[in-house]
Amino acid sequence: MANHLERAVVVLAAGAGTRMKSDRQKTLHEIGGRSMLSHSLHAAAGVHPNYLVAVVGHQREQVAPAVDTIAAQLGVEIRQAVQEEQNGTGHAVQVALSAIPDFNGTVVVTNGDVPLLRSETIGALVDAHESQGAAVTVLSLEFDNPTGYGRIIRDADGAVTEIVEEKDASDEQRRVREVNSGVFAFDGAVLRDALTRINTDNAQGELYITDVLGIARGDGKKVAAFTAPDPRELAGVNDRVQLAAAGKELNRRLVEQAMRAGATVIDPATTWIGVEVEIGRDVVIHPNTQLWGSTVIGDGAEIGPDTTLNDMEIGARAKVVRTQGELGVIGEDASVGPFTYIRPGTELGARGKLGGFVESKNAKIGEGSKVPHLTYIGDATVGVESNIGASSVFANYDGVNKHHTTIGNYCRTGSDTMFVAPVTVGDGAYTGAGTVLTKDVPPGALAVKEGRQRNIEGWVEEHRPGTEAAEAARKAREQG
Ligand code: UD1
Ligand code: MG
Repeated sequence: MANHLERAVVVLAAGAGTRMKSDRQKTLHEIGGRSMLSHSLHAAAGVHPNYLVAVVGHQREQVAPAVDTIAAQLGVEIRQAVQEEQNGTGHAVQVALSAIPDFNGTVVVTNGDVPLLRSETIGALVDAHESQGAAVTVLSLEFDNPTGYGRIIRDADGAVTEIVEEKDASDEQRRVREVNSGVFAFDGAVLRDALTRINTDNAQGELYITDVLGIARGDGKKVAAFTAPDPRELAGVNDRVQLAAAGKELNRRLVEQAMRAGATVIDPATTWIGVEVEIGRDVVIHPNTQLWGSTVIGDGAEIGPDTTLNDMEIGARAKVVRTQGELGVIGEDASVGPFTYIRPGTELGARGKLGGFVESKNAKIGEGSKVPHLTYIGDATVGVESNIGASSVFANYDGVNKHHTTIGNYCRTGSDTMFVAPVTVGDGAYTGAGTVLTKDVPPGALAVKEGRQRNIEGWVEEHRPGTEAAEAARKAREQG
């Protein structure tokens, strides 16, 4: 292939998307944890164009800031062209070109509502277009049911002559199953010229980008079609049913990617993985597991079943069972669950444990330390190899302010200890069961509360006569 030309990618996102029945602009709806617009712009940026242009219009008070955020994430400039009135796809591209007035290289046009289109496919389209020296190349699809799409019309020699919209097509043209995906590569100069010659003389009274093909062909230029290798990539989203279908297809792709990279996924149908999630080798993912945000799963970790993790970092070989977790870090070989709620700021050290019915928040728990049962641990630091007894509460909130609890290394705190923060337990210290800890415990001490147990003999028979308890007590007393 010759030196490639300069490239620009235009993403159309000005439409109203009325079928979504939403207050949110259509392309801002999400699949795989990312907006459709963001998927489209990621794919566009993936071909490293010299210019990236987003055409915004409808609800641009939402779309424009979203484009800016995506540009910052991608670290690229995205120019925005405002299409005040949506006079058709041809008009939208005219508006886009006004944002890159001196550009005459290859112009790719794609849509903000085609979230599954991959960079590789855009790249293959551009390569085919440039290597054939075409003036226009349309990315085409074959559909058994082409209803609603523009048909690709070819002459007797099989050369593409024009695209005819469904509403403008003859019965014979409607029988054509090769359709326009809405994605094109154009010679910039040909496009600029042809866009001055399109008109609204069609069934919808709009300026059609598709008319550029017929004009270029009429001028004797080469017009080509490049068949998309996988038509599923071109599925457009116009309503929420299609949104769910696209989300499922994206997920199928992401789950497959994880498996190809060495993860075992027991049930792909109930496993959901966001686009930014990273999954290591020999990870096992059990059914009903959802991994979202920037979650990272270390090699050999085992996740699920019934687990949802958002922005979590899971160390190698850790086990996380029936857990809801967000913005926490779980160390290597650590164990979490079942029925554990991990809130932001939790850091569990290597070999540590957060067991059943434990809730944690803003808690740094050292290597080998365990919080095994029925505990709330919040605003706390725990050293290494300490054990927090069952049913403990870190009482961190005095009704106005949050306070911190610090527990040293090798501590053993008894069941049902209340850590009334701020409080510190020194290295190697113990607490007795049921201790309400309001004062610091020095290293190596045993903290107990002296409220002594008193047994009032005969209380049940006297105060609860006739009950089964009183009867059982009488029998036990008589048997001596
Ligand atoms: C278009 C194509 C059709 C193709 C189909 C593929 C035309 C005339 N027709 O039809 O051949 O098979 O896509 O899905 O191009 N948009 C704007 N401004 C406008 C109009 C549209 O930004 O003034 C954007 C829309 O937001 C959308 C895209 O362009 O992202 C396509 O527009 P749409 O109205 O959906 O075109 P279709 O009728 O689907
Ligand atoms: Mg459409």
